Formats: sequence, C-alpha cells, structure tokens
Amino acid sequence: MPTLIRLLPLILAIVAPARSAPTITPPPAVLAATPPMGWNSWNWFNRKVTDADIRQAADIIVSSGMREAGYLYVNIDDAWEGTRDAHGVLRANEKFPDMKALADYVHSKGLKLGLYSSPGALTCAKFPGSYGHEQQDADLYAAWGIDFLKYDLCGFRTIMTEAAPNDKREQLRLMRVAYEKMHQALLQAGRPVVYSLCQYGYDAVWQWAPEVGAHLWRTGDDINATFASIALIARGQAGLAKYSGPGHWNDPDMLEVGNGKLTLDENRTHMALWAMLAAPLLAGNNLTQLTPEITAILTDRDIIAIDQDPLGKQADRIFAEGPIEIWSRPLANGDVALAVVNFGQDTFLRGISLHLQAAGAGPGWHAYDIWGKKNLGPIDDHYAFTLKRHETLVLRLTRS
Ligand code: GLA
Repeated sequence: MPTLIRLLPLILAIVAPARSAPTITPPPAVLAATPPMGWNSWNWFNRKVTDADIRQAADIIVSSGMREAGYLYVNIDDAWEGTRDAHGVLRANEKFPDMKALADYVHSKGLKLGLYSSPGALTCAKFPGSYGHEQQDADLYAAWGIDFLKYDLCGFRTIMTEAAPNDKREQLRLMRVAYEKMHQALLQAGRPVVYSLCQYGYDAVWQWAPEVGAHLWRTGDDINATFASIALIARGQAGLAKYSGPGHWNDPDMLEVGNGKLTLDENRTHMALWAMLAAPLLAGNNLTQLTPEITAILTDRDIIAIDQDPLGKQADRIFAEGPIEIWSRPLANGDVALAVVNFGQDTFLRGISLHLQAAGAGPGWHAYDIWGKKNLGPIDDHYAFTLKRHETLVLRLTRS
C-alpha cells in the first residue's frame, strides 16, 4: 500500500491525457463539487455582527445537527473590516479582535470560515474594499485561514463608470478583469478558497463567471424575508440550469428560512425551491432562536439530498399556468425530483397533470412525498393533490 501511494503521482501523470495549457487556471475541482452549504451573517445580523455572534453560530451549527446535515461554511458578510495600516495591511474592526483566533475556533468545530470584500474601494456598507490591495488581502485571508470569499461589486461600480464614462462594454470588461484579479490573487495566496461572485446578475454573469474562477455567482438582487421576494427570485431562475454544475453554481442568494414572518409552508417552499435549483444553501437566520420546526426544514435529509445530488443538474421549469408551476431535475441515481408550487394566495384544489413525461419520468413510477414523508406508490399524470397558499409538493420519483 505505501508503495502504491508513493507511485500514485507517477501513475496519474502517465494516465492523465495531455492538455494544452489553459489561459486561466480553473479552480481546484474538489471545491464546491456540490453547492456550498453553511450560514452567513448578513440576513440576520446585518452590520452588527461580532466575533461572539460568529462563535455562537458555529457552536449552534454543531449542536443543532446542521453540521451533520452538511452546513460547513460560517461566513462573515460585510462590516468586519477596519482600517489599513501604514503598509496597506487591512485590520479587522473592533468587533473582531483576532480574526486568526476566530478562524482557529471555527475550524476546531469542524467548520470553515468565510469572509466578504469588494473589488471597489468601498464595500456596500462603506467599509474598505480590496481595490488596489487584492494580493495583500488574499494573502491576509490565507494567513488567517479563510476558506470562502464573497466578492461584492458595490464600490467598483463607481470605478468602472468613471474609467469609461460612455463605454458600457468597457465598463463590463473592467468588471470581469476585477473579478479575475482577485481570482489570481487567491490562487497566488495558495489556500483553497471558494470564490463567490456578488454582482446581482449583471452582464449575464452565469455565462462568464467560471472563467474568472467563480464557484458560485449571484444571479440577481438581494433577497428579503418575504414570500414575494422568494417567489420573484425563484421564478427568475428559469432558463439558467445549463450554466450550473459541479464546481460552478447559480446563486439565487442566501436563505431566509426562519426569518421574518414566513409561514411553515413558505419556509418549506423556499427551501424546496433552493434545493431544486441546486442553490448554495447558506442559512441566514438567527441561530440562537432556532425552533424545532425551522431546524427540521433546514436539516431535512431528503430535501438536502436533492440540493446536494452529485449529478449537479439544476431544475428547469416544465410547466407554468397562473400561480402553479412545476420544476423538475434529474438525479444521479436515475430518480427525478419534481416540485409543484402554488405561488398563489388561494388553495388549489384540483389535481393538475404532473407532466411526468416532460420531467423525464412516466406513469407507474413510484413517488415519495418529501415534506409529507410518505410513499405514494405508483402514480400517473393525474395525481390528485391539493396545494395550500404558497405550498409546494416535492416528489422524488423512482422508476418502478
Ligand atoms: C450587498 C449584497 C448583500 C450583502 C450586502 C452587504 O447588498 O448583495 O448580500 O452582502 O451587500 O453590505
């Protein structure tokens, strides 16, 4: 066995096909092979997040069973940044007295730590961004032990418009260059970092984000904890499936499950849609107030198995009529996941066709109702179901 391990690099070198040198170094394949899962501070704490909040979040991710369910990244969003010293080295602000110690703590829990910055001089919350300090910042992140970077356009918008006031194409080119610059800086720093682009979907980012090293990219505007926001974002993802896959994911934004006044059905619909969309699952709720109901939604193994399916095929919308939509995605073992969503205000009483054929399934396939936790046995297109306001039926279909 030890001999085999010693010889492994040699064997791999022999069997690996010859490749021409790529112009851009791709991110390591193992990173984000399935959509990243974790928690992010922004949706709940906003600018108020502190070191103590992050430690507590890490503790609860472990004690609640979220880590076991796959939530690994603990991400500090905007408002951790302090000032630069005389050498340009960024320091965290007074809310984060020792970022390295915080990273060590998070790592000691079997979790990973993420940070946030901007290619601009200022972040969205007007803290210092990385403009002109990209390599310095990437090196700092590596020294601290950072595993994930969300890189948010914000302040760079001023820079790109001022650099080319009347030339939109040039502005967009500069934006890509800025994202590629941090990508190269991260590679140079030498620590594997999941690279998350946040520029709200500009310039069909899904078409070029992997070329600048992104593992995920926001496809649109900021989410908020209302069903209207969740529905708008989810419905806007139609047509984007072909751009995502292992190592590179569309990101409809962080989860609001457990936030605001979302009902049980709305929280479940939100979670189901994000799982169907192979979305990164970054919880954004106050973990100190986790209820059994919210924990159950966030850690539902059947839903997470859809999100994390190794085939990595995001769902397509196969049917839409009024408030009812059906989305489906193929799964690695030949199963098909089907979500029937009622975006409307009224209870939907009639069964409608499940459109099994369009989903790649067919009559006689067996269905498992994920939220209902029951086998429905063989089904056909005319399965009679009722959907309450904002409810989603999620079926895992298996060939009989
Ligand atoms: C932007 C992003 C949000 C969040 C804030 C922080 O609005 O889209 O997700 O990171 O900035 O300031």
